[in-house]
Amino acid sequence: MVAYSTISCQNSRCLLRDRCVKMDVVAVFNQKGGVGKSTSTIQLADGCARRGMTVLVIDLDPQSNSSTTLSPTNPKKLNYTAVTLIQRPDIRIEECIYESIFPGVSILPMVMKMRELEIELWRKDTDLIAMHLGRISVGTYDLILIDCPPNLGKLTLMALTAATHYLVPVKAGDQYALDGIEDLEATVIEVKRAKNPNLQFLGALLTMFDGRKGVDKVTETRVLETFPGMVFDERLPESVKVKEAIMRRVSVFSEPNTAVAKSVSRLSKEFLRKLGYEGFADEGENE
Ligand SMILES: Nc1ncnc2c1ncn2[C@@H]1O[C@H](COP(=O)(O)OP(=O)(O)OP(=O)(O)O)[C@@H](O)[C@H]1O
Ligand SMILES: [Mg+2]
Repeated sequence: MVAYSTISCQNSRCLLRDRCVKMDVVAVFNQKGGVGKSTSTIQLADGCARRGMTVLVIDLDPQSNSSTTLSPTNPKKLNYTAVTLIQRPDIRIEECIYESIFPGVSILPMVMKMRELEIELWRKDTDLIAMHLGRISVGTYDLILIDCPPNLGKLTLMALTAATHYLVPVKAGDQYALDGIEDLEATVIEVKRAKNPNLQFLGALLTMFDGRKGVDKVTETRVLETFPGMVFDERLPESVKVKEAIMRRVSVFSEPNTAVAKSVSRLSKEFLRKLGYEGFADEGENE
């Protein structure tokens, strides 16, 4: 296993350069609902942690799906969450972070307090999450994944403003899968212009994919045409094993020989390669 945090910063303008370690922040983003954002976030967190990364998942969706899956206790019982972070800029982000049920993965949970939050959010600057992440000590996490809500509202803008990269899950077999991509791209252009010029597209990820279904192949062709050269080779397969693992709150790697576990392993490797982690050990790889 490789100690990823020894990889130094790739940013040639970074003043800390050799002392600075890389901390990628990937927003898992698509304003369409039910496309696999939370599932992709959870599986990538688990898969990357198994490859030696120290991962933080930030749940910015008030539906709390990744929080409910990853938090060891009911997020509603936690005193400090992403809501606290939004309401109290004085709070230390570390106070809102908990160990998750997966080794190597921490969670900054969200709770459903949307009515209160809407009013708070209205007044907040989209820099808020970026500002809090800037206070995390260098080297604490190798990778931060942000699970975005299914809209283009303030929380999504906060995620894109804080992110180094964004990843777009696209649901296979949905005839409307690519409707709204113009809005998604326009949002990214606006965030880059106003706040975060270095934001990079990591790629589109086909989720819930079943290559035997004609409709899934049609979506695949459309996605490849829409995002030329920017589609993950790995597709997350549609499988009841994914739902079962999430419902039982266990890792898909508890059944390491399933197609899903093997796919998550390959996807995590491809994901890390796209982030610039080359030449890490394949020891214990599950393919
Ligand atoms: N690979 C898969 N195989 C089978 N079911 C899946 C798979 N991925 C996701 N699902 C199911 O599809 C539904 C939507 O997935 P998920 O919650 O990850 O989407 P989302 O984009 O986060 O949704 P929302 O926009 O509501 O936050 C869930 O019920 C989930 O269990
Ligand atoms: Mg979700």
